[in-house]
Amino acid sequence: MEKDDSSVFVEWANKPEVFGEYNPLHQMSKAEAEKMLDNPDIKPFMIEKKDGSKVGFIFHFHVLHLGTGTKQLEIGYTLLPGERGKGYCTEAIMIMVDYLFLSRDVMRIQAQTDQRNAASQKVLERAGFKKEGTLRNNFFIRGEWTDDRIYSIIREEWREPRILTKTTKNRS
Ligand SMILES: CC(C)(COP(=O)(O)OP(=O)(O)OC[C@H]1O[C@@H](n2cnc3c(N)ncnc32)[C@H](O)[C@@H]1OP(=O)(O)O)[C@@H](O)C(=O)NCCC(=O)NCCS
Repeated sequence: MEKDDSSVFVEWANKPEVFGEYNPLHQMSKAEAEKMLDNPDIKPFMIEKKDGSKVGFIFHFHVLHLGTGTKQLEIGYTLLPGERGKGYCTEAIMIMVDYLFLSRDVMRIQAQTDQRNAASQKVLERAGFKKEGTLRNNFFIRGEWTDDRIYSIIREEWREPRILTKTTKNRS
């Protein structure tokens, strides 16, 4: 996402139906959106169709383990309500996983999702993630503490790019 995307991002962020029922409600100003797009620790990417229309976003960020200084990579994603169920998110996750394993010296990529969020768990499993366990009372959403499932894909399971290749920069 570029700075120019802050308007569309802030519009989406303030619509409860975009983040869905399993995410905390957001209220975000344009200034906050711009600050987020400037934060080097959060990397959001637009999910675009071939015609250039923007249908959602996917991002990666670091989860710092204070004891070792290890930075784990985590991903998150959201599709606009009218664009769900078409396979776009599965494809976006696969591209993100290829990109991160090709460009970063990391052994694992993780994702967390509300245990009731069946669509999110399905896309993670289809993209090759494995369920590791439950994070109890992980978030406070709409008046209750909720449990999350944590998933990961490790480098040995990924083995090779499924969509991106190292030579994509040479393609037109
Ligand atoms: C989770 C989300 C990103 C999935 O995106 P998507 O583009 O619809 O995903 P895909 O089309 O690749 O696959 C979705 C799959 O889940 C299935 N699914 C959707 N809703 C479901 C439900 N309530 N129960 C069970 N399966 C469901 C779909 O049928 C589809 O499977 P199929 O292709 O075998 O039919 C999208 O639903 C979303 O943006 N939700 C709101 C925000 C959110 O929850 N983000 C994730 C936070 S961790």
